[in-house]
Amino acid sequence: ELKDNTIVIVLGASGDLAKKKTYPALFGLFSQRLLPRDVKIVGYARTKMDTEEYHKRITSYIKNPNDTPEMKQQIEDFKALSTYVSGAYDKDEPFEELNAHLESIEAKYQTKERNRLFYLALPPSVFIPVTEKLKKNCYVIRGGVNRIIIEKPFGKDTDSCRELITAVKENWTEDETFRIDHYLGKEMVKNLLVLRFANVSMGAAWDKNHISNVQITFKEPFGTEGRGGYFDEFGIIRDILQNHLLQVLSVLTMERPVSFSAEDIRDEKVTSGYPTISGVKVLRAIPPVERHDTLLGQYVAANGRPGYLDDETVPRGSVCPTFTAATLWINNPRWEGVPFILKAGKALNEAKVEIRIQFKDVTQGIFKDISRNELVIRIQPSEAVYLKLNAKTPGLYTRAVPVDMDLTYKRRFGEVHIPEAYEALILDAIKGDHSNFVRDDELDVAWKIFTPILHWIEGHSGPRPKPVQYPYGSRGPAELDSFVQKYGFRRSTEAYAWPTTNLS
Ligand code: BG6
Repeated sequence: ELKDNTIVIVLGASGDLAKKKTYPALFGLFSQRLLPRDVKIVGYARTKMDTEEYHKRITSYIKNPNDTPEMKQQIEDFKALSTYVSGAYDKDEPFEELNAHLESIEAKYQTKERNRLFYLALPPSVFIPVTEKLKKNCYVIRGGVNRIIIEKPFGKDTDSCRELITAVKENWTEDETFRIDHYLGKEMVKNLLVLRFANVSMGAAWDKNHISNVQITFKEPFGTEGRGGYFDEFGIIRDILQNHLLQVLSVLTMERPVSFSAEDIRDEKVTSGYPTISGVKVLRAIPPVERHDTLLGQYVAANGRPGYLDDETVPRGSVCPTFTAATLWINNPRWEGVPFILKAGKALNEAKVEIRIQFKDVTQGIFKDISRNELVIRIQPSEAVYLKLNAKTPGLYTRAVPVDMDLTYKRRFGEVHIPEAYEALILDAIKGDHSNFVRDDELDVAWKIFTPILHWIEGHSGPRPKPVQYPYGSRGPAELDSFVQKYGFRRSTEAYAWPTTNLS
C-alpha cells in the first residue's frame, strides 16, 4: 500500500544514474499520479548547486517535456516538490543537516507518521559510509518506515560482495533493503513467468528433450564514452552478464512457484529471507563458467567512431573486455546438457536485448534441410514474442518454409503504456514489495558463477587473456558465429529475416 507522509531521498543526485534513470522514473510515476499523496523528493550529493541548476538537471532526461501544456505544468509541479541539500558522504555533520531538512518537511505533516525511502545512486567507494551515516543521522526511529534502495555494483567478486552485504546489514535489515537489478523490472522479463506457466504448450517443451540451445543477448550501439573510468574497473561481465543476463536466465529456467503470491514464491526459494522472482535454486545448479566457454572482445575504432582504448578515461593498453560471450550449464534434470549462451557487448551494430530459444531438429526422414523452431522473446526495443515455425508453402506442391507466429506488442496491445523498469521497481519499493528485488543469497551464488573467470581475466593466476578485436558498429568479434555454432546453434536454412516493419 502507498503510505502518505513519504519522502524519497536520492543520494548521488548529481550523478549520471540519478539524472538518466532515477529522476525520470520518479517523474514518470508522479505524472501518472502513482506516488504517495504529498510526496516530497530530496536530492543529496557533494556538488554545490542552487535550486535552479538542480531542477534543470533532474528534468533534463524527461522525454518530450514541451509536448503539451499539461506536461509543462507537471514538470513545474515536480520541480516544486523537489529540493536539494549538498554535503560530503563521509561526515556526520552534513547528514545531520540533511536530517534537519527532512524534519522541516515533516513538521508540516498532519499525523505523526514519517516514511523515508533512501535511494542510493552512488559510486561503490562511498556506499558503505553512506549506509552508516544515514542510519546514524537520518533514520526515523519511531512512527514510520525507513527503506534503502541500492544499486550494483554489489562488490567485484564473491568475497567483496560478502563484505559489502555484511557491512550494509550492520545498519539495515533485509526487510528494509531493496537491491535493484532493473532487468527484473522490465515488462518482458516479468512476462516470462506468464509465458512459461500459463501455457501448457510452452511448459511442455521447456527442457533438454526439446531445446537445443538458448542465447540471451544484450547489444548496445554505443561505447563507454565518458564512463570509461568506471567501466574499465568492472568490465562487461560485471556490468551486464553477472547481474542482468543471469537474472533473465534464472527466470527463464527456474521451476514453477506454487503461486505468484510473495509467500509462495518465498517457499520456492529455499532459505529464509525475502521472496524474489528469480530462482536461487536454479542458480545453485550452475557451475562456475569455464575459460574455454568464453569469447572475449574489445572494440576498436571504425567508421569515424573511437575505439575503447581511444577513450581518455580508459587506462592505456587496457585488456578489459567490452564484449563477452559465456556459455553456462545447468546441472539439473531439466536442463542438463543445454548450453545457455550469454552475450553482451558495447559499441555493436544495434540496440537489442533478446532471448532466442532454439529447439531441436525434427525427427529425420520426411523433410530435408528443415529449419528448427525458434522462440524469440525481444525484451527491448519494441517488445515482441515470435515463434519460428515451418509451414507448407501455399500451392500445389509440398514444401516447407520458415514462417512466424508473431506477438508484437505494439500491434497486439496498441499504444498501451509499458512502465519503465525503474518506475515499476521504485513503486514496488515504496509499497514494500520485495518480489522483483535481489535477495542477498542470490548475489552470493551469482558471484560464484563468475568469480573464477573474472579473476582469470584480471590476471590473478597468470597473464591476462587478450580480448579479440571487433570494429565499432559491427556485430561483434568475427569469431562469434563459430562460437555459437560450437554449442549447436544453427541458422535457419532459408534466408529468413524478421520483417523490419515489425520493429517500427
Ligand atoms: C546498466 C549498465 O546496468 O544497464 C549500463 O551499467 C547499461 O552499462 C545499462 O547501459 C542498460 O540498461 P537498459 O535498461 O538501457 O538496457
